[in-house]
Amino acid sequence: MIPSPGNPTGVVLSEAELDELLEICRRHGLFFICDEVYREFVYDVPLGQRAPSVLSRPDPDNLAIVIDSVSKRYSACGARVGCLVTRNTAVRDAAVRFGQARLSPATVDQYAGMAALDTPQSYFDAVVSEYSSRRDVLVSGLADIGIDVDKPSGAFYLAVALPVEDATAFSQWMVSEFTLDGESLCVTPLEGFYRTQGLGRNEIRMAYVLEQDILRRCTKILGAALQEWQSRGA
Ligand SMILES: Cc1ncc(COP(=O)(O)O)c(C=O)c1O
Repeated sequence: MIPSPGNPTGVVLSEAELDELLEICRRHGLFFICDEVYREFVYDVPLGQRAPSVLSRPDPDNLAIVIDSVSKRYSACGARVGCLVTRNTAVRDAAVRFGQARLSPATVDQYAGMAALDTPQSYFDAVVSEYSSRRDVLVSGLADIGIDVDKPSGAFYLAVALPVEDATAFSQWMVSEFTLDGESLCVTPLEGFYRTQGLGRNEIRMAYVLEQDILRRCTKILGAALQEWQSRGA
């Protein structure tokens, strides 16, 4: 199961990479569940273009299953409405049975989800342009405090390696004890996203879901917090 565009890295898989993963699944008798909830959120491509979908790739054995949700596309986190899309009828039948047996989204959320389908393309163009600018503001703010990151091409997250040993301890300290002009910063330690123990210890995830001015303040707070953390010898 792989998200593309990815949370927490923002990586967008290319068509060739999707083909390669499908081939690996075919060889090992696996389904390929691709979480594409961020597929509208892709940058540095013409407006309106989406991330490549695994469902658009050759897949004679119908191994591809896409997971989708309304929550990112329409900024509707909390609406518990999503779906599973596949050409595999056996998987579809099993999912329908699960749905009928025990899972059922709230009626009001379903009506809201249907209304959201009428959202015009101009909404997505404006949102994607804004997120692209927010990404650039965050990346350049990080560069100003000496942290270089690869520019992600999708979703709205950045994986950031910090000059600290334990990013979880640093993040906890920052949000509970550190302020700059009365403000602090809440980030997500990245270690928990890794399967391999020990990886990501010095990394955090930053989400660029706030306004550009706030993101500029965020990198200032992070820079000042890192300086103080290092001066404490932590
Ligand atoms: C890749 C990915 N898939 C799914 C979800 C959750 O979607 P929902 O709000 O529909 O539970 C998230 C939320 O952060 C996500 O990052």
